[in-house]
Amino acid sequence: SESNSESRGALIVLEGLDRSGKTSQSSNLLKYLEGLGHSAELWRFPDRSTDVGQMISSYLTNKSQLDDHTVHILFSANRWEKRSLMETKLKSGTTLIVDRYSFFWGGFLAPEDGLLAPDLVLYLDIQPEKAAERAGYGGERYEQLEFQRKVARCYEVLRDASWKIIDACQPMEDIEKQLQEIVLDCVTICQKGKPLSNLWS
Ligand code: TMP
Repeated sequence: SESNSESRGALIVLEGLDRSGKTSQSSNLLKYLEGLGHSAELWRFPDRSTDVGQMISSYLTNKSQLDDHTVHILFSANRWEKRSLMETKLKSGTTLIVDRYSFFWGGFLAPEDGLLAPDLVLYLDIQPEKAAERAGYGGERYEQLEFQRKVARCYEVLRDASWKIIDACQPMEDIEKQLQEIVLDCVTICQKGKPLSNLWS
């Protein structure tokens, strides 16, 4: 293994619209890093396994009604409840590939302040119309073209120069190669001692 007790793992976030390919590319990256002997885990937000996650899930699947503010705070709480485990994992040398984090729709809100800042944000860039053509929007509340257009505009506001923008309409293998290269750089920099920091600080 290339990791040692002093080097930390990297916090790597994939963002993008629904059907942009985040989930496939996240598991590809996990396999890639594990193949190189790195300790790595795949996480996703919302994490539907917790109590808060269940509330979010029943909202997303239209089984419950909540107003927008409540939902934003629940999404944020869902990250807070994982924060200390996240820090422990990173400090023990495990790299986390995170399928969505704080940047989706309202991620600029105060409740995010103090969560761990990603070392890398990979944005899988796709036009909402193109994403809609891809197989199976699953029928959840947010999987609708009009909403995804708003989300795309929201990402445009939130993203900054540090994000790596990847064209999500390239062949999958090309995307995979580009992601691997960027992620490996990031993992190496973190191993060499780049400090962890908090969002918005
Ligand atoms: P998922 O499809 O990745 O499980 O995400 C479910 C939906 O939740 C997706 O449409 C994006 C949305 N979402 C938010 O609205 N706020 C958040 O903070 C996160 C992580 C996801």
